[in-house]
Formats: sequence, C-alpha cells, structure tokens
Amino acid sequence: MIMLRKITLENRRDLFRLEVSEDQRRFVASNLSSVASCYVLATNGGHPFPFMIYADEQPVGFVMLTYNITGYDLPTIADESYCILRLMIDRQYQNKGYGREAMKKIMAFIRTFPAGPAQYCWLSYSAENAVAKKLYESFGFRDNGEIIHDERITVLRL
Ligand SMILES: CC(C)(COP(=O)(O)OP(=O)(O)OC[C@H]1O[C@@H](n2cnc3c(N)ncnc32)[C@H](O)[C@@H]1OP(=O)(O)O)[C@@H](O)C(=O)NCCC(=O)NCCS
Repeated sequence: MIMLRKITLENRRDLFRLEVSEDQRRFVASNLSSVASCYVLATNGGHPFPFMIYADEQPVGFVMLTYNITGYDLPTIADESYCILRLMIDRQYQNKGYGREAMKKIMAFIRTFPAGPAQYCWLSYSAENAVAKKLYESFGFRDNGEIIHDERITVLRL
C-alpha cells in the first residue's frame, strides 16, 4: 500500500538516496535541494508539505506540496492555490503504479485544504515529460496555456 509519511530524523537519509534516472534529472530537482527549499519557504512564511512516498515499508519517492507559494515565477491562478512543486519516484521503483497511487493520496490530502482554502491545484512540467503529462491529465489537470521557465502550467479546479 502506498502511504505519504512525514520526513523525520530517522528516514531523512533514505530520502536523500532516492533518485530519478540520469535522463530524468532535467524534470525534477534533487530531494536534497527540495528539502532545502522547504526550509527556506517555511522560514519565510510559506507552507511547504514535504512527504516521503512509501510502498508498505519501502521508501520509493518524494512529493513536495505548497500553498500560496511566493518567491517563484507564478501562473495567474497561483493565489489561494496548492502546488505540486515536486514529485518523483525512485528510478528502480518506477512504472509499477506507485506514482499513480501516490497521486491519489496527494489529491486526497490537498482536498483536506490543510493550509487554507483554495480553488485550484497547479503544477508545471516539461513538454518532453510524456509520462508526467499523461499521469496528470488522467487526474483532470489541463494545461492553461501559460509557460514558465520552459515548463507548461497545468491546472485542476478543486
Ligand atoms: C512521473 C513519475 C512520478 C511517475 O511515477 P511512476 O511510479 O513511474 O508511474 P506509474 O507506474 O504509476 O505509472 C503511471 C502511468 O505512466 C506510465 N508509465 C510509467 N513509466 C513509464 C515509462 N517509462 N514509459 C511509458 N509509460 C510509463 C504507466 O504505464 C502508467 O500509465 P497508466 O496508468 O495509464 O497505465 C515518475 O516517472 C518519475 O519520478 N519521473 C521522474 C521525475 C518526474 O518527471 N517528475 C514529475 C515532474 S513534473
């Protein structure tokens, strides 16, 4: 079963070992860099939600959500919205259905509105990332035509 768990002093080293394949590195920052971004956001009034993704007791991936993010170049619908800023499944655990199951948990968590009300969830992805595009579209995300830093903005009304 797929679960989202908090990062702790015990599991943090496992998190930093999780990585995508070399040709996927252009699609997502390293987990170490993402956790550093969480610290900076949290100490500057932001609302980062970093989670490790577990398949039963095995750490397999990472997701970082934010609410009303600031300090980034943002799409027009960014106010009062949740953002899936990072999502990755370690290369050795990909294509086993974990990303899809994790997305179900992620969307259920966002729909509890843990940091405040929101109309939208959004994220950005590279046009070359066909797997991610298909995955997000299957959850109802639709491109809104904006492109920021060469990435397409895709949006879901909550
Ligand atoms: C995108 C990502 C999170 C998907 O996770 P995953 O666990 O591999 O995905 P799943 O196994 O749940 O598969 C989801 C769908 O993608 C398809 N898929 C997964 N890997 C695939 C591959 N290498 N080639 C073709 N299709 C693939 C699956 O067949 C499945 O399709 P379906 O549900 O319509 O049958 C993962 O590939 C990843 O970490 N990629 C690198 C980082 C990245 O791109 N993150 C997103 C940034 S926006």
